Amino acid sequence: MLKGFGKDFLFGVATSAYQIEGGNHNDWTEWERKPKVKKSKNLTPCEKATDHWNRFKDDFLLLKELGINTYRFSVEWSRVEPRPDQWNQDALQTYVEMAKLLQGFKIEPMVTLHHFTNPMWLHEDFPWHLQKSVERFGQYADKIISLLSPYVRYWISFNEPIVFLLGGYIDGRMPPGLKDVKLSFQVLKNMLLAHQEVFSIIKDRCGKDAQLSIAHNMMEIRPASVVSPFDHWLAAYVDQFYNWMLVDAFATGELDFRIPTAVKKKVKLNLADTITFWGINYYSRLFMRFAPFRPLRFSFHYRDASKNGLTDMGWEIYPEGLEHILKRVHSKLNLPIIITENGIADQEDNRRLKFITDHLKVLRNYSGSIPIKGYLYWSFLDNFEWLDGFGPRFGLYGVDYQTYQRRKRGSADFFRSLAKEEIEICS
Ligand code: FCB
Repeated sequence: MLKGFGKDFLFGVATSAYQIEGGNHNDWTEWERKPKVKKSKNLTPCEKATDHWNRFKDDFLLLKELGINTYRFSVEWSRVEPRPDQWNQDALQTYVEMAKLLQGFKIEPMVTLHHFTNPMWLHEDFPWHLQKSVERFGQYADKIISLLSPYVRYWISFNEPIVFLLGGYIDGRMPPGLKDVKLSFQVLKNMLLAHQEVFSIIKDRCGKDAQLSIAHNMMEIRPASVVSPFDHWLAAYVDQFYNWMLVDAFATGELDFRIPTAVKKKVKLNLADTITFWGINYYSRLFMRFAPFRPLRFSFHYRDASKNGLTDMGWEIYPEGLEHILKRVHSKLNLPIIITENGIADQEDNRRLKFITDHLKVLRNYSGSIPIKGYLYWSFLDNFEWLDGFGPRFGLYGVDYQTYQRRKRGSADFFRSLAKEEIEICS
């Protein structure tokens, strides 16, 4: 008999609301209408996305077919609270229905409360850099957690806060499109305060087995030139800011936020014990180059340094990076770890199988010494990939954007057989 991770291992797939649902109206919808975004890349706006909102029942049958035991998805805040304090009961009930359906299929729902998008009214009246955003998010979180807690044990407060910060407040390529490093500190601080709120709500409203984390994007960061002391310094700095600042904040209760020559702030937060596991979104490795004449004084790129090839996004396939990150997270946090995202854009579906196998191999190698509790593949379906639109194909199931039909890729069958080995045929 094959020895898998065991039936308690969370083995599944992940999505987010805006990327699949369709018919949402939030800050991204507005952003995509802006000529500067459209002009830079001739992208189709998200609009219907994959039309999942109208097709979720059929889509969930596909999840069932995959034989997985966990599905991570997010709630779209702008849909359930289209105006401050005005709740869309139908939308709320649809999320309840989703969670119930999953429970019926014995698929553990993992719910993300914030996955990049925000209602427009939040930016207008309660922007993230002001403390009043914390209360607003708390009210929204309370509504969702109260409604879904009978069916949901796993919660993610925020998806990739650092990516949100970089895109929205530092390089300005995502909404709200600001370039203000000072503000970015306030934004991160408020998001962490909002995470604390989520923790208290879960403590009040959910049973003892409720689980909470953030989903943190972590990458291996290396210098572009091994002989350049500038690139070395830069890579070490970016590694700390991008990967470890948040881990350290949760480990020590202190957020130490530094942007050279611009911001140096330390703030104590009550983060200790507000997470029960650590969620890692792992994709690739980045090379950093010091570039004094660029606006941010650096540039970065992916390259096929390990000769494993690049994905359709041009990202290096680098499972070893996951190994390095796992070891370091474990040494700092000593909590269960769940890979909340890992995936590949691969239109031809000829590298996905090896990609998944190689990353799982890393998990298996360390499962004796590090408490690794789950692996979620990004993504269940092809979807709207933010700045890259509908081009990249991450799905186990393909989506035909003319007819919205789902097409099973070969790797969906492979994933199904993996699910059998990993969580069904267990020791
Ligand atoms: C992650 C995001 C997710 C998706 C994947 C490819 O950083 O969390 O929404 O876009 O990248």
